[in-house]
Amino acid sequence: MTFVAPVTSLRGDIRVPGDKSISHRALLLGALADGVSEIRGLGRSADTMSTADAVRALGATVELDLDSDLIRVTGVGLRGLTPPAGPVDCGNAGTLMRLISGILAGQPGRFELIGDESLSSRPQERIALPLREMGAQIETTDGHAPLTITGGPLQPIRYELPVASAQVKSAILLAGLFAEEGPTIVVEPEATRDHTERMLRAAGVRVSKVGNEISVWPAQSLKPFSIDVPGDFSSAAPFLLAASLVPGSELRLHGVDVNPTRIGFLNVLERMGARISLYNRTVVGGEPVADIEVVASELVATQIDASEVPLLVDELPLFAMAAAVARGTSSVRGAEELRAKETDRIDTVVQALRPMGVRITEFPDGFKVLGVPARLRGGVVRSAGDHRIAMLGAIAGLYSKEGVRIEDAEAVGVSFPGFFSLLDSVVTR
Ligand code: S3P
Repeated sequence: MTFVAPVTSLRGDIRVPGDKSISHRALLLGALADGVSEIRGLGRSADTMSTADAVRALGATVELDLDSDLIRVTGVGLRGLTPPAGPVDCGNAGTLMRLISGILAGQPGRFELIGDESLSSRPQERIALPLREMGAQIETTDGHAPLTITGGPLQPIRYELPVASAQVKSAILLAGLFAEEGPTIVVEPEATRDHTERMLRAAGVRVSKVGNEISVWPAQSLKPFSIDVPGDFSSAAPFLLAASLVPGSELRLHGVDVNPTRIGFLNVLERMGARISLYNRTVVGGEPVADIEVVASELVATQIDASEVPLLVDELPLFAMAAAVARGTSSVRGAEELRAKETDRIDTVVQALRPMGVRITEFPDGFKVLGVPARLRGGVVRSAGDHRIAMLGAIAGLYSKEGVRIEDAEAVGVSFPGFFSLLDSVVTR
């Protein structure tokens, strides 16, 4: 149990770890490149270490010097991954399992993918279906991991995503690298994060986007690359919210990825009245990056619909907290995907906030919150092993009257092992 006591302000200048989505992709594409790629600022966490271990098991070399920020990945070439003696363990990382499936679909050999209990309960037919359509042999276990993939020659497809998922989109685009001809086309119902497209282009692959259709052409090889991974907006988000809520706060977060497909939560907070400004805008590793300043202010309710959901899908638990203390009734709809995350995040968010006095109503595809502009009561939050719920518990605790005890708070290590110490470094109690 970790206890987060109420705070009187958050102040300072901080950096959050490298973006998790970009870190996974850099390790995966580095493993497929012809030669040595260099990654700086990789977000080290349980999830990205699962990816480093996976690509090592498949034959790539990853030099992770703990004293240096530089990671070298020696790739084995586009079709050079080899089946290890046993299964590849994806741990808790859904991104790893989905993206690597697209890659293994094009590799000669038979591969088995496993995950932890949470990952093994998440849906995998969503990737197996399109990859089978391309010609890969994929078996799921009743729609879940363990998966077995027998890769080989693939055909291009045009696939309309039934759910707006960057992971499914990326699995298909990565498989498209191995197709006998191009283009392989993915049609998105709503825009989702586009890190795969950006990084493929940087590695020399032809990728185009017209409207909501993304096309990728087969590649003969991938160029090794050098990338600086910008700060993870999803790790910045709890700090943005905390500093918006606690009066007297003033916080600057430096070098954060502000890719428009990721910063839905920033836009939603601004709509709610938050005082946030972006400055020092640059481009790092093909991604827009900025420093973010946030000053406390009072929030008002807002509504989120399906078109906005993918842009803040990992921040919706934090949105529930913002809504709880904003004036008026807020809601999110079209977010049934929350039920397929590390936990059923509609359920875990309701279970976390309702016992603290938050008036939250669950829908099949979202929730509604009747906000009261005052600190929460506090209490106990069970993370259920979900890193985003543990961080929600922390922000609820610092903007509460009595503090919050977080059960299984170590779950933050899935994406952000230093979360609690960074939080401690900016709060005044
Ligand atoms: C991710 C995409 C999102 C997100 C996950 C990371 C990615 O999943 O929830 O944390 O790196 O592509 P979906 O695109 O499946 O919603």
